[in-house]
Amino acid sequence: MFRRLSDPDAAMVSFSIDGQAVRARPGDSVAAALLASGRLVSRTTPVSGAPRGPYCLMGVCFECLVTIDDIGNRQACHEPVREGMRVETQQGRREVAR
Ligand code: FES
Repeated sequence: MFRRLSDPDAAMVSFSIDGQAVRARPGDSVAAALLASGRLVSRTTPVSGAPRGPYCLMGVCFECLVTIDDIGNRQACHEPVREGMRVETQQGRREVAR
């Protein structure tokens, strides 16, 4: 579905999505890395559990919310990939820390 247009021999960053190792280009957003790895779902809705995935890729729709390094409700389209980061698809509502 998605195909990179840049140099296939470029440097890569390693991180995980739902415990699976993924590689992306430095500077990629987490949303871009999700899509490039074939993952179209970033979260499920709190009420019906319907799958949602990155849509606008510019911080407007909030469909790309994921958990990054145990912190929920992070916008995947605004977060650059980092070596060793742990990304988890977000299942329903996140608890608010008090
Ligand atoms: S994809 Fe719309 S806010 Fe991230």
